[in-house]
Amino acid sequence: MPLQALGYAGFGSAALDDWRQFGTRLVGLQAVERSASLLAFRMDDRKQRIVIDRAMPEGSRFLGWEVADAAALDRLAARLEQAGVDVTAEPQTLADNRRVRGLISFHDPAGNRLEAFYGADIDATPFRPGRSISGFRTGPLGLGHAVLTVENIDAVMPFYVDLLGFGLSDYMQKPFRAYFFHINARHHSLALIETGRNGMHHLMVEMFSLDDVGQSYDVALSETDRIGVTLGRHTNDLMTSFYAKTPSSFMVECGWGGREIEPSSWQPFELQDGPSLWGHERVWLPPADREVARQMRMRAAAAGLRAPVQVMDGNYRLMSGTCAWWDGVSKTDR
Ligand code: FE2
Repeated sequence: MPLQALGYAGFGSAALDDWRQFGTRLVGLQAVERSASLLAFRMDDRKQRIVIDRAMPEGSRFLGWEVADAAALDRLAARLEQAGVDVTAEPQTLADNRRVRGLISFHDPAGNRLEAFYGADIDATPFRPGRSISGFRTGPLGLGHAVLTVENIDAVMPFYVDLLGFGLSDYMQKPFRAYFFHINARHHSLALIETGRNGMHHLMVEMFSLDDVGQSYDVALSETDRIGVTLGRHTNDLMTSFYAKTPSSFMVECGWGGREIEPSSWQPFELQDGPSLWGHERVWLPPADREVARQMRMRAAAAGLRAPVQVMDGNYRLMSGTCAWWDGVSKTDR
């Protein structure tokens, strides 16, 4: 796979003060001032992961996909050009701005600006979260996942799968049409939701501790009209999360406990149980679709659908004591 991870994302917005507040106080990102028109956020040892740029049109965005090195970037550019995609070799000034060594840019069929890069700058100073959280799970999994809304999934999917090498993880037809794609062990680094309109739906960041998410949720609950999707757990990546409305027109999903997959042997399949095991009341969905989602959750609950929590070493303690009843129950779980 030419792409390794979602490396960075950028959004056009004039609401830099609101974004600074939202990013640091609610999400726990570290704000790094770049200029009067550019706000950058750190979430790990990299110099920047998310930027908010006043000079970009409101609602515009770019996603930065990471490749291994300069040779991999050249190969990707050649492959895209061969397929008739316009590729721009961006100047060093823009690479410096993105805090990477080299990058190219191009557009997907829905008009989203994509960038591919190598050599992200590492900051000499440690990451300092904007709120007291344990940190974000990034590394080889990338910054999280991006979910785009598209007019028509079928018109966009071949670009990502056949050209960029994304693997389909799974997909659903109800309560909305959504396809989930991986490029590493993260269940999805990209998803497409068919809404009839091209846009940005949400950006997911994954925290190390479930309590980080709960405490962010408390912050979100304390603000008026901040919750876009209530606390819940997804059926496919098993993420426990909630979605907060950003100062722009999309959401940030704060999650914990996302599963890992083995990309080389993964087989895609259709999700039959809806997007969530429980919770995730979606404020953004039309009422009729919300009702369909609710009924799917009720059916999942009635069927006893559940999955083990996915935890990192050092982030759990096994409880002592088992019983015959639990031995029977746990055998039926995934
Ligand atoms: Fe998500």
